[in-house]
Amino acid sequence: MVIERVKSGIPGLDELLNGGIPKRNIVLISGGPGTGKTIFSQQYLYYGLSLGEPGVLVTLEEHPAQVRRNMAEFGWDVRKYEDEGLFAVVDAFTGGIGEAAKKERYVVKSVDDIGEFVDVARQALKDIRAQRAVIDSVSTLYLTKPSVARNVLMQLKRMLSGLGVTAFLVSQVSVTERGFGGPGVEHAVDGIIRLDLDEIDGELVRSIIIWKMRGTKHDMRRHPFEISDRGVVINVGKVVKSLGRSVIYGGVE
Ligand SMILES: Nc1ncnc2c1ncn2[C@@H]1O[C@H](COP(=O)(O)OP(=O)(O)OP(=O)(O)O)[C@@H](O)[C@H]1O
Ligand SMILES: [Mg+2]
Repeated sequence: MVIERVKSGIPGLDELLNGGIPKRNIVLISGGPGTGKTIFSQQYLYYGLSLGEPGVLVTLEEHPAQVRRNMAEFGWDVRKYEDEGLFAVVDAFTGGIGEAAKKERYVVKSVDDIGEFVDVARQALKDIRAQRAVIDSVSTLYLTKPSVARNVLMQLKRMLSGLGVTAFLVSQVSVTERGFGGPGVEHAVDGIIRLDLDEIDGELVRSIIIWKMRGTKHDMRRHPFEISDRGVVINVGKVVKSLGRSVIYGGVE
C-alpha cells in the first residue's frame, strides 16, 4: 500500500523521510533552547499554506502578534491566509489580557484547563479545515506537572488524529538533557525529530536527527542544518559524527 505523505517544506527533510511525513502522524519536534524548533515548525505550516493546505498554529510561548511578526521576517506573511480563512493562530499565551489579545479570534483563557485548551484548538482546526497544525510548545502544558504529560498528550493526539491533521508538537528540553520530553510523551507520539545545538571546537553547530517516524523508513544519521533569512535548510550530504561531548540519550549528562 502506498502511504500518503505530507511535504514538509524543509529542504532536505523529505529526502531523509523517504518522501515526506506519513499523513496524520503526530510528530514531536524536540530540542533545547534556540535550536530552531519554532522556525522549523512555522516553515512547515507556511509551506502548507503555499500549497493550499490550511494550517493552525497554537502559541503558548509567544504573543500572537510576535508570532506573525517573526514569521514575516522570513517572508512568511500569514495575514492574507488568515483573511482567506486558511490559517489561524490560537492564542494560548495572553490569557485574553491586553488590547492586542482582544483582536484574537481563538483565545485559551487558562492553559491549566486542558479541556478548554483542547476545545479552543479543535474549534480553530475545524473552522479552517486544517490539514497541518503546530503546538508551540506542548511542554508548557505540563511543565509543572510531569505526571499528567501522557494524559495531556493522549487527549491532544485523539483530537488531532480525529480531525486528520498532521501535526508538529514542539517539545522543550534543557541544554543537557538528551531525552525528548519524558517517556509519557515520547512513546505517545508517532514521530520524534530532534534538533541540536552543540559547541564543537569553539563553534556552535546545528544538527538534526530523526529518532522515530512510524509508518516509514527514514535516514538514521545526524545531519548539519542551517538557519538563514529563508528558514531551515538541512545538509543531507553531510553527517555530524561527533557532538564533541559524551552523549547519553534518554537521560541527563
Ligand atoms: N534570520 C535569521 N537568520 C539566521 N538565524 C536566525 C535568524 N533568526 C533566528 N535565527 C536563529 O534561530 C534561533 C531561534 O530559533 P527558534 O526560535 O526556532 O528556537 P527554539 O528552538 O524555538 O527556541 P526556544 O525553545 O527558546 O523557543 C536564534 O537563536 C538564532 O540563532
Ligand atoms: Mg521556540
